[in-house]
Amino acid sequence: MNDQPNDAGDQLAASTSEASLRRTEARSAEIEAQIAKDPSGFRVMTGDRPTGNLHLGHYFGSLANRVRIQDAGVDTFILIADYQVITDRDGTGPIQERVLSMLADYLAIGIDPAKSTIYAHSAVPALNQLLLPFLSLVTDAELRRNPTVKAELEATGDRPMSGLLLTYPVHQAADILFCKANLVPVGKDQLPHLEQTRVVARRFDERYGRVDPARPIFPQAEALLSKASTVLGLDGTKMSKTKGNVLEIGMDADTTARLVKKAVTDSDRFITYDPEKRPEVSNLIMLVSLCTGQDPVAIAAGLGDAGGGGLKKLVTEAVNEFFAPIRARRVELAADPGYLMSVLRTGNAHANEVGDATLAEVRAAMNMTY
Ligand code: TRP
Repeated sequence: MNDQPNDAGDQLAASTSEASLRRTEARSAEIEAQIAKDPSGFRVMTGDRPTGNLHLGHYFGSLANRVRIQDAGVDTFILIADYQVITDRDGTGPIQERVLSMLADYLAIGIDPAKSTIYAHSAVPALNQLLLPFLSLVTDAELRRNPTVKAELEATGDRPMSGLLLTYPVHQAADILFCKANLVPVGKDQLPHLEQTRVVARRFDERYGRVDPARPIFPQAEALLSKASTVLGLDGTKMSKTKGNVLEIGMDADTTARLVKKAVTDSDRFITYDPEKRPEVSNLIMLVSLCTGQDPVAIAAGLGDAGGGGLKKLVTEAVNEFFAPIRARRVELAADPGYLMSVLRTGNAHANEVGDATLAEVRAAMNMTY
């Protein structure tokens, strides 16, 4: 093994440095241009934990981007990461319900099961089996240094580190590598996972050689950083279910109106777009902008001295209008769990075919074909 495990912690830390981030951003722009020319060389893999309903932060931060990539013709794998739910909590909660609800969200916003493979962790044994050889390629020291593991551990308060939390970057490497994805749309916080995934792929190759000398078994997966602006919660901090500041994709119009009314603004009646000095007001303006396509400065100018009340009225209208067709589709989908389950089963079956083929190659490389 040329790649000493101890170097990897530094590599992971380096993957979040400013210079490295700039490089990743520049590379993402190149990849976008390549996708527009010819999407056939890419396989995208991404996913979410089914811990609660998807919200507008998810929609504008990542989901809309996924639909765009799918519609550009990129082969897309979307994981409902049910096993990852138990990385940082003690039980699965109402998991069936949440998985189907997440699936309804996906389909309602335009993820098309004819173009994208949607599947669950627990339904793809080959994916999980990859974890075993992969774990032999990392050290506990490098996992403990992983910035995402550290952040998750801190977020769970006094809960001791579980084996699954410690090894979660390796599980995520298996998520990406089981289908040989070469492109992963992520936010900055997930970049260490991608670096870890590349390290695992490289070390596997170095340790076990190649079935085909010209071709590594696993690709070096790249991040696709989205340009999307972050939508904050109704109190101007990160949108997150635990903070109760969320607008869910599937909320009805009245609930949306009620919650927006409670949003935090400030005492200056004259509305301006100034994310630095007026984060709460500016975030609400940004929401209108994302829903209507209008420029945030123009929106603010149009509101003038309409105050927080005027701004909130506009937010409610814009969100409710933009999400009306999505919500109507979602209501129909949610009423048909049989259909949702059939979509999931079809996706699971395809993921299993792909995963079994990868595992067969892994076994061949490890000389464990019996
Ligand atoms: N860790 C991601 C999250 O918390 C979800 C996820 C699981 C994922 N496996 C993945 C994302 C693989 C990208 C690629 O949201």
